[in-house]
Amino acid sequence: MKAVQIKKDIYWVGGIDWTLRNFHGYLTQRGSTYNAYLIIDEKVTLVDTVKARLTNEMIERISSIIDPSRIDYIISNHVEMDHSGAIPAILEIAPNATLITSPKGESGLREHYGKEWDFRPVESGTHLNIGKRNLHFVLTPMVHWPDNMVVYLPEEKILFSNDAFGQHLASSERFDDEYPLDIIMQEARKYYANIVLPYSKQVQKILVSLQDLQIEMIANSHGIIWKEHVPEIMEAYRTWAGNETSQRALVIYDTMWHSTEMMAHSIQDAFESQGFKTSLLSLQHNHISDIMTEVIDASWICVGSPTLNGRMLPTMASFLTYLTGLSPRNRKSIVFGSYGWGPKQIQEMAKMLEDGGFEVAGTEKIKYVPFPEDLQSLESRVVDLIRAHS
Ligand code: FEO
Repeated sequence: MKAVQIKKDIYWVGGIDWTLRNFHGYLTQRGSTYNAYLIIDEKVTLVDTVKARLTNEMIERISSIIDPSRIDYIISNHVEMDHSGAIPAILEIAPNATLITSPKGESGLREHYGKEWDFRPVESGTHLNIGKRNLHFVLTPMVHWPDNMVVYLPEEKILFSNDAFGQHLASSERFDDEYPLDIIMQEARKYYANIVLPYSKQVQKILVSLQDLQIEMIANSHGIIWKEHVPEIMEAYRTWAGNETSQRALVIYDTMWHSTEMMAHSIQDAFESQGFKTSLLSLQHNHISDIMTEVIDASWICVGSPTLNGRMLPTMASFLTYLTGLSPRNRKSIVFGSYGWGPKQIQEMAKMLEDGGFEVAGTEKIKYVPFPEDLQSLESRVVDLIRAHS
């Protein structure tokens, strides 16, 4: 396990999680990495660590450069255990190291590990000289925990951004000019949609505070490091944080006897007739975290479920809980479904969406099985709804 030099005397010493497939409900088909960085200067500085399970991998990489007991500073940009999990082990090896973190980082680390380490809390604007280089700290609360911060190294024009600008992507390649850019961008989009989206207002503020920095490299804490495509990922974050959508409609549904599925097809046809790009997404065949990746630029989110025991199907309840928790804004919706004798699921779904900030433009229900004329008239009503809300 060798370290990878990212700039002179600055090394990637993280861990690669090749087998990770589920990150608290987020399907991580490509695995992930936990990126930690070692800066060799008068003060040897480690920026973030890795998940506890990969501690030895990180220590081996550090040891390929220096004796880890020589570490003077450990920067903890984020308390979450995928980045702080190896701090206890490193502090066993380097017991005199100072742990630099935000004030909320200090309390969070105490609450996670219960240790009296040598904490040095920093604020936005704090500078720390480590020899030839200086660390500038910028607190980034709620992107995506209260404790988050980033570190800027002006002499190298590197931003150590922690979770921001990351992707869940395991690879032996480290840089964005070594790996297919479309896959990196797709994984960055999925990461934003499933983790960062609820904090888009805070992201907008942080993008403003970063705009005066000259950033040549974004050394994030998950996936590929941005080097050749920094402007592209910054621009993508501006778009996603602004909840900017396109003429795109998602029709997301589950079905029991294909009646709700037939309705979904008619609703899709209505959007296509009005010039929309569409995706038809069955909850039996698509993971909710992959659907969220498509939500990011869709202006209409239509959801359909038949009635089961007077409620929506559990798959739809799960999706709506996830969707509304991630708080996309400026989206319109149509709620639809078939029913037998009591279409209570329609009201239940509409309420969840309205409580989550969606504009429910219309509701559509059909008893038992739709006949061709029912589907034609459904399509025509949905066309009217689209026109009325354009
Ligand atoms: Fe990658 Fe919020 O931890």
